[in-house]
Amino acid sequence: MTIGIIGAGSMGSGIAQVAATADCRVLLYDAATDAPRRALAGMEKALTNLETKGKLPAGEAAAILSRIELVQELSALKAADCIIEAIVENLEVKKSLFKALESEVSSDCILATNTSSLSVTAIAAACTRPERCIGLHFFNPAPIMRLVEIAPALQTSEAVVRQADTLMRQWGKTPVLVKDTPGFIVNRVARPFYGEALRILDEGMAGITAIDRAMTELAGFRMGPFALMDLIGHDVNYTVTETVFQSFFQDPRYRPSFTQKRLVEAGRLGRKSGRGFYIYKDGTTEPDSRYETGEAYSEALGQHIVRRIVVMLINEAADALFWGIASKEDIDLAMTLGVNYPK
Ligand code: NAI
Repeated sequence: MTIGIIGAGSMGSGIAQVAATADCRVLLYDAATDAPRRALAGMEKALTNLETKGKLPAGEAAAILSRIELVQELSALKAADCIIEAIVENLEVKKSLFKALESEVSSDCILATNTSSLSVTAIAAACTRPERCIGLHFFNPAPIMRLVEIAPALQTSEAVVRQADTLMRQWGKTPVLVKDTPGFIVNRVARPFYGEALRILDEGMAGITAIDRAMTELAGFRMGPFALMDLIGHDVNYTVTETVFQSFFQDPRYRPSFTQKRLVEAGRLGRKSGRGFYIYKDGTTEPDSRYETGEAYSEALGQHIVRRIVVMLINEAADALFWGIASKEDIDLAMTLGVNYPK
């Protein structure tokens, strides 16, 4: 099979690696001419590393890379059976790309978008054959994360949904099926992990280290909400919250926090800028004392924190099920595979 990938950033290069590893021929295109070359160099490093560690048979890295071709024009994607777009998260830009693609590719080529927050239906509407469009939402890093949310647009044909599901399984992924709604499963159900933690902080009930400690030690999450927001980057995390809030017609359940907004405004974006809720300096991590409110940590306080956040997560998952966004099995799969939730 020939797969076209548009956008050779973090997601596009990861998806290209997945497809080539699964024996597909990959045509990689990016508007920035040097991006595909950089992506290829990154893949070469990652694959050689896997080979050195014995996780890939000798010679396999070169074989995988030989299946990836860097192309300079959209017209070079003519041979593709399926195209996955991972360009900038902007509806107008994605729509004009999909429209332009239709005149280049075969009539049965599947057009997939990796969008996290835009309406797949709105993107598909730019096409004359919208039934071939679908959302394939991979997680970062794509070669490692098994989950893929398959989000058919309102117009997507059943046959395309089945083909996408089969393809993802052939690539070793675990697909879940989700309605085209804001945040799909993971980015919707996970909102209270951040939102409720921020509320607990803003109310002055507990500080960031107490909340992070409770959620890791007592509830078994890999990271606490504040350490995780610092890792994701407040610009990214805040934008997702804002987008979900606006997309749900300003449902107060998803309301963003001023505390996080101020961090974004101050450029304190988390790990990548050296400072967020924590301060990262010379290899050490210290909490910023201004976010150390509330009483000192005790197991009783920790249990209270866990109950508040976990109950909100359960509520969100139950709500997604109630509205038929996905099956309960797929919601559980998505939350355990997509964000490593303990249950
Ligand atoms: P990125 O910024 O790393 O890469 C985007 C690439 O697209 C850049 O190389 C850029 O030059 C290229 N590009 C921009 N406009 C283009 C156009 N009109 N035509 C061709 N190439 C164009 O972005 P990233 O993080 O890889 O995200 C890409 C998409 O994947 C976005 O829609 C994002 O929402 C989605 N996504 C991102 C995840 C993440 O964790 N970063 C996770 C899942 C989805």
